[in-house]
Amino acid sequence: MGVGLLRRGRFARPMDPTASEYISSMKDDLTIFHPVVQINIAHTIMLTEQGIISEKEAATILEALHSLHRGGISKLDLRPELEDIHMAVEEFVIKEIGEEIGGKLHTAKSRNDQVSAAIRLALRKKLLDLGDQLLKLVNTLLVQAEKNIETVMPGYTHLQTAEPTTFAHYLLSYCAAFLRDIERIENAYEMTNSSPMGACAFAGTSFPIDRARVARLLGFKKVDENTMDAVGSRDFALQSIGAAAIAMTNLSRLAEEIILWSSAEFSLINVPDEFSSTSSIMPQKKNPVIAELARAKAARVMGNLAGALALVKALPQAYNLDLQELTPLLWNSIDETISSFEVMEKLIAALKPRREEMLKQAERGFSAATELAATLVREAGLSFREAHSIVGRMISTAVENNRTAADLTVDDLKKASHEIIGREITMAQEKMKKALDARNCVYSRNIIGAPGPKALKQQLTALKTKLRKHHKLLWTWRRAVTRSEENLIKEAERRFK
Ligand code: ARG
Repeated sequence: MGVGLLRRGRFARPMDPTASEYISSMKDDLTIFHPVVQINIAHTIMLTEQGIISEKEAATILEALHSLHRGGISKLDLRPELEDIHMAVEEFVIKEIGEEIGGKLHTAKSRNDQVSAAIRLALRKKLLDLGDQLLKLVNTLLVQAEKNIETVMPGYTHLQTAEPTTFAHYLLSYCAAFLRDIERIENAYEMTNSSPMGACAFAGTSFPIDRARVARLLGFKKVDENTMDAVGSRDFALQSIGAAAIAMTNLSRLAEEIILWSSAEFSLINVPDEFSSTSSIMPQKKNPVIAELARAKAARVMGNLAGALALVKALPQAYNLDLQELTPLLWNSIDETISSFEVMEKLIAALKPRREEMLKQAERGFSAATELAATLVREAGLSFREAHSIVGRMISTAVENNRTAADLTVDDLKKASHEIIGREITMAQEKMKKALDARNCVYSRNIIGAPGPKALKQQLTALKTKLRKHHKLLWTWRRAVTRSEENLIKEAERRFK
């Protein structure tokens, strides 16, 4: 084809090889190979239904596209001079059936609407995979939580021991976050599931095409109407990277805690050997490398988001080749997020809490102080602020004398209350012991969402219902995608067979 299919009319010479290598998106386009073939099939079916090309022409084109669909990408010549997969597919069809008929394939479409549609088709599936992976992790967290309803552990604010909680409560906090991530992914899916086909370069076409038909053939929920917006927008991609980046941010917090808590300094959990590596010089080392990388991958996805936003910012409307640079950031974000969630799910499933150590540490650092203040309010009729100050004084005196929470007595209470409110408050030593007991402190907290066993059981039930609901929704969407793909091929086949 000499100067090439695309250039022979306008240019006398081929592009400089360095320049064509530089602008080619070929290697990033592998992800959209099948979508591009599907789009060409759907478009051809619509063209003949609308009487724009004859049934015979359509049958010839569809047979060539079908053979490409079956044969796979190895049938294509992917030399960078072709610029991208869109041209490679068109060139394949023309080589197979000649330009007189094959040359009609690109009637009433542009690479601009085609690339946006192809990204959306590929992204739909990736978002479903991502959603499923998150659901898996939520399920694993629920299973772990169920085994640890009564596992008391220290809870932290400012990374200082704050109040006792349960390991289940901690795990369910991440279930809540990841379920919101799943909702964000579902929102991104709905934004993505809209067809730009028929927008052509940006201003549509005077051919009487049926945009809604192409949308239906590709299983899109609707047509992305404004043709300039349809080719020029990538906010569906930004939203998807954003959802991935937020999910990774949530995952990185969990990862950080696994790193911290498996250290000798915390000793709260054991990371299984299968998810640890060792040092080439220090024979004793057991390093939580999976969690470290999950923490780092979050940075990468965040970087992708920043890059993608910067790329779209202030970009003049409609298609610019800048947009080509966004697509690899999108795939990388979703792929890294999927693999991070996949491996972290396995790690969490195998994670072992060190229950005795957790309880011991939960009792350190006067962690039941808040509960003692609450008990004083109930037992001695004090205001909360009075009780808060009295307990604070009891603790500061104890700290000065190197005493722990277990050493606190009613005499300390009497002394501190005298100093703070000018009168002596007392209570049964028994009640004070109970208030200071970490287990009692946690088990008595059963309001909505709290770490007590009763509250946890309610949370588990509610979370399982949510999990099922999302599972069903993603499954329904996946089935719709699979069916539309199968129907598309059948529609093509019955036109040439
Ligand atoms: N390779 C391009 C991309 O990935 C496809 C669209 C090219 N359009 C154009 N007018 N050069 O975005």
